[in-house]
Amino acid sequence: MKAVKVAENIYWVGGIDWHIRNFHGYMTQRGSSYNAYLVIDEKITLIDTVKHYLCDEMIARISDIVDPADIDYVISNHVEMDHSGSLPEIMAIATKATLVTSPNGEKGLKAHFKDQWNYRIVKSGDTLNIGKRTLAFVQTPMVHWPDNMVTYLPEDKILFSNDAFGQHIASSERFDDELPLGILLEEAQKYYANIVLPYGSQVQKALEAVSGLEINTIATSHGIIWRSHIPDILREYQKWSSNTTENKAVVVYDTMWNSTEIIADGIVEAFENKGYQVKLMNLRNNHISDIMTEVTTAKYICVGSPTLNNNIMPTVASFLTYMKGLAPKNRMGLAFGSYGWSGQSVGIIEQALKDCGFETLENIRIQYIPDEDQLEESIKKLEGSIL
Ligand code: FEO
Repeated sequence: MKAVKVAENIYWVGGIDWHIRNFHGYMTQRGSSYNAYLVIDEKITLIDTVKHYLCDEMIARISDIVDPADIDYVISNHVEMDHSGSLPEIMAIATKATLVTSPNGEKGLKAHFKDQWNYRIVKSGDTLNIGKRTLAFVQTPMVHWPDNMVTYLPEDKILFSNDAFGQHIASSERFDDELPLGILLEEAQKYYANIVLPYGSQVQKALEAVSGLEINTIATSHGIIWRSHIPDILREYQKWSSNTTENKAVVVYDTMWNSTEIIADGIVEAFENKGYQVKLMNLRNNHISDIMTEVTTAKYICVGSPTLNNNIMPTVASFLTYMKGLAPKNRMGLAFGSYGWSGQSVGIIEQALKDCGFETLENIRIQYIPDEDQLEESIKKLEGSIL
């Protein structure tokens, strides 16, 4: 296993998770990577580690450059175990190493690992001299855990950003100019939508905190390293974190006998007639984590279900619960669905959309199979209420 040079005496020594397809409920069709970095100076420093089952891979890459026992500092930017999972192994090998982390990092690591490691606690503004270089630390709480921090290397203008700006991609390429930018931004958006979305205001603070830094390289902890498209990813993070939406509607639904699907098709037509971009997403064929990628930039979120057992379809309930937790803001909602006799589904969805904090349009609720007249009337009414 080879280390990959990022800059002079700075190496990527992470692990590639080619096979992972489900990251705590997030569908990772392109796999992932956990990026650890080795800085060779008078003091040898490892920045973050990898998931426990890729520890041997990380140690092999470190050993390509130095003896892991010679590591002086291990920086833990984030407690979550995809980055801290190999700490027990590396701290057992690097017996003289000091573990550098934030105050909440110390609490979290001690709670996870019940360890006796030698800690050095750092806060925003603190620095650590490692020879010719000085590491600077910036706490970024709730992007996306309380312990998060980033590490900046001013001499090389590298920001070790941990989860921020990451993407779940497994690849042999390591840099943003080695893969198509469209794929990278799509995966970065999906990552933002499913991991970071609830913390927009904290992301804005973190962007402000690093805005004064000169950055040539953003060394993320997932996916590729940004070195050629830094303005692109910073611009997208500004947009996503400010909940800026586009003239776009996402129509999400499940259906029993296609009646709710007929209404969904009518809703698509109404938005298209108003010049909107529309995404029609059946919950049987689309994973909720992919739907959230679209929700991130959509002004209208339309959700439909037939009534099933006086309730909504479980797929729709799952999506609504997931979306509520991720808390997109400044959206408009529309509930729709068909029913046979009791017809509770549309009211349940409408309440759920209100609970998300969305303003709602007049719902569309049609008994049994929508006929042409009913559909035309609903489309016209909806067109009239779309901004
Ligand atoms: Fe990639 Fe929050 O862990």
